[in-house]
Amino acid sequence: MEEKKRILSGIQPSGALTLGNYVGALRNWVELQKTDEYDCYFMLADLHTITVRQEAKDFRKNAMDLLALFIACGLDPEKNPIFFQSHVPAHAQLSWVLTCNTYMGELSRMTQFKDKSQKHTGNINAGLFTYPSLMAADILLYQADLVPVGADQNQHLELTRDLANRFNNAYSETFKVPEGYIPKVGARVMSLQDPMQKMSKSDPNENSYILLLDSPDAVVRKIKRAVTDSGSEVRRGEGKAGIENLMSIYSAMTGKSLEEVEAEFEGKGYGIFKAAVADAVVETLTPIQARYRELMENKDYLQQVYRSGAEIASRTAAKTLAKVYRKVGFIQP
Ligand code: TYM
Repeated sequence: MEEKKRILSGIQPSGALTLGNYVGALRNWVELQKTDEYDCYFMLADLHTITVRQEAKDFRKNAMDLLALFIACGLDPEKNPIFFQSHVPAHAQLSWVLTCNTYMGELSRMTQFKDKSQKHTGNINAGLFTYPSLMAADILLYQADLVPVGADQNQHLELTRDLANRFNNAYSETFKVPEGYIPKVGARVMSLQDPMQKMSKSDPNENSYILLLDSPDAVVRKIKRAVTDSGSEVRRGEGKAGIENLMSIYSAMTGKSLEEVEAEFEGKGYGIFKAAVADAVVETLTPIQARYRELMENKDYLQQVYRSGAEIASRTAAKTLAKVYRKVGFIQP
C-alpha cells in the first residue's frame, strides 16, 4: 500500500488560544484529519514559547489548556499523535544542525523577529533570532508534505524549504521539501479594534481578540464593539477591512462563502450582521468549551495522550535525525 502523505503543524502554548489560531490553523487541521488522507503530527510548540520569558506556573497551565483545546476542537489522539515538542529531543538536536546551515542574513529578514524584538526590547535573545531554524527542524524531522498554518507563518515556511533544499544539495537527498497549506478564507484574522493588524493574544487591548474560552457575553460585547466603517453595507471593498474581517469570521464559522454572506446581509445593516456573527461564534465555541472543561477534569487521560504522542513522534523523528547525523559525518555512537 502506498504510504500516506504527512502533515505536521504546531501552535505555541504562549497564552490563551484566539479565534485567529482556530480559524487560521486548528480548524483546518481537524478538516484535514477527517479526510483520512494524511498521517498527521500535531505539536505543542513549547520550545518556541521560551523565546519570550514565561512564568513556569502559567506556562504549565497554558500548555495543558492548549492540549485540552486541541482535543476539544476535534483532533483525535487515537488517530494521530499529539505531543509536546520538548518531549522529543530530536527537535533541539536537528535544530542545531540546521542553525549551522542558516545564514544570519536570512534570519535578520524575518518579520516576526523584527516585530518581537521591538515588543520585547529587554530580552532580544539569540533564541528569538534562531527560532526559524527550530521551526524548520520541527517540519523536516517528520518529512512533512503539508504544513497547515496561517499566513503569518509563510516566511518561516519559505525558509524551511530553502534549508531543506540547501541540505539536500550539500549532503544528498535527505528531506522532503514541504508545501504550506494556507486557507483561502481566514488565513489572517485581523484585530477587532484595528483591522490593519493581525488578531493576536499578545495585543494589550483585550477587545481586539476573541479567545476560544471567552464567555458568550464577552464574544457578543467584543463583536458589537468591533471597528467597522461609517457605511452600512455588508460587502468587501476599499475601506471595508473591518467588515471584511467579520465576514471571513462568519464564513469560517458557518461554511458559507463570502458571496453568500454578502447576499444574506444585503440591505440589513451592521447591527443585524454583527449579531449574526456573534451568534455563529458562540455556537461554534459552546461545544468546544464544554468538552474542554470535561477534559480538564481528566488529567490522567491528557497525560496518556501526550505520552503516547511523544512515543510515536519520537520514533519518526529519530529516523530522520539518524540519517542527518550520518550524512553530516558524526561518528555513530
Ligand atoms: P502561533 O502559535 O503564533 O500560531 C499558531 C497558528 O495560528 C495561526 N494564526 C493565525 N491565523 C490566522 N489569523 C490570525 N490572526 C492568526 N494568529 C495566529 C498561525 O499562522 C499558526 O498557524 N511558529 C509557529 C508555531 C510552530 C509551527 C512549527 C507551525 C512551531 N513549529 C512547525 C507549523 C510548523 C507559531 O508561533 O504559531
